[in-house]
Amino acid sequence: MAILALAAPVLAGCQGDKSDGGNPGATGAAAGNPKIGVMIYKFDDTFMSYVRRTVEESGKGKAALNVVDSQNQQPTQNDQVDQFLVQGYKALAINPVDRTAVSVLIDKVKAKNVPVVFFNREPTAADMAKWDKIYYVGAKAEQSGALQGEIVVDYWKANPGADRNKDGKLQYVMLTGEPGHQDALLRTEHSIKAVTAAGIQAEKLAEDTAMWDRVKGQEKMAAFLAAHGDKIEAVFANNDDMALGAIEGLKAAGYFTGDKFMPVVGVDATPPALDAIAKGTLLGTVLNDAKNQGKATFDLVYALATGAAPKTDVAPMTDGRYVWVPYQKVTKSNYQQFK
Ligand code: GAL
Ligand code: CA
Repeated sequence: MAILALAAPVLAGCQGDKSDGGNPGATGAAAGNPKIGVMIYKFDDTFMSYVRRTVEESGKGKAALNVVDSQNQQPTQNDQVDQFLVQGYKALAINPVDRTAVSVLIDKVKAKNVPVVFFNREPTAADMAKWDKIYYVGAKAEQSGALQGEIVVDYWKANPGADRNKDGKLQYVMLTGEPGHQDALLRTEHSIKAVTAAGIQAEKLAEDTAMWDRVKGQEKMAAFLAAHGDKIEAVFANNDDMALGAIEGLKAAGYFTGDKFMPVVGVDATPPALDAIAKGTLLGTVLNDAKNQGKATFDLVYALATGAAPKTDVAPMTDGRYVWVPYQKVTKSNYQQFK
């Protein structure tokens, strides 16, 4: 009974993968291809769906990949890890639900000597130090925050009217991602640091989490507007989905018609965000390189599954176990090259 219940999420992952016709592990399941388990914290996350796609494409013909949805539940993900270990998977790639709860996962894989690549949600240094066969693929969140800040600084300097109330300070609101996520914490901090480092005083009017989510971003923006209205001079969002939600909220309040503009910045450079830059609603974003993060994750987990030395040509390895994929600033002047 318990085994059947545990098997369900793993099988569900196979059936959900239409690219392989629903055959378990059919992505390159030819004899001799190693079995690799991949867990995504939830499939219903815009940016992660692009990372997932690249992992799957990279694995075609090389590995028997089984990519499963952890449905935003850490206990579900723990069960998936157990199941992969029971089924003799050679290596795992894990996008943790709760990055502070991976210690128990590390104990499990270490006991079976199955190497793991964590990605997108960074375990603590203490957890990474628990075993030498664990790796991390991600991006330096500080950098994405700083680049967002620079986009707003450039706008502020080029548009004297941006300081609506002429007090010499930038009044802003902040939409944050999931609490505790390194990208939420560091983007929030370093975006504003870049503004003040450029000699501009910043005043926070409001900050709230919208959990990386577009609909929540719109709701929170409506609340910010109800409380602060025209006092708001800029909107920072920790990702594009929330920035796009904020733009919807702003449109409902009359922005982006006539000359009523609001500088809004996001992170990820998803296709809808690039469209919004083209339309002139989104001021800018930062490329969170899903392709190269997905490719590096596959390169490492494949090397580990085949007993080779872990390496990737995406970026150099730091400290023998970290791959940092660089971010890039995206604005009206260069967005076309990211389509
Ligand atoms: C971030 C990304 C967010 C969200 C999150 C999930 O890097 O910017 O949009 O996908 O990862 O962990
Ligand atoms: Ca002002």
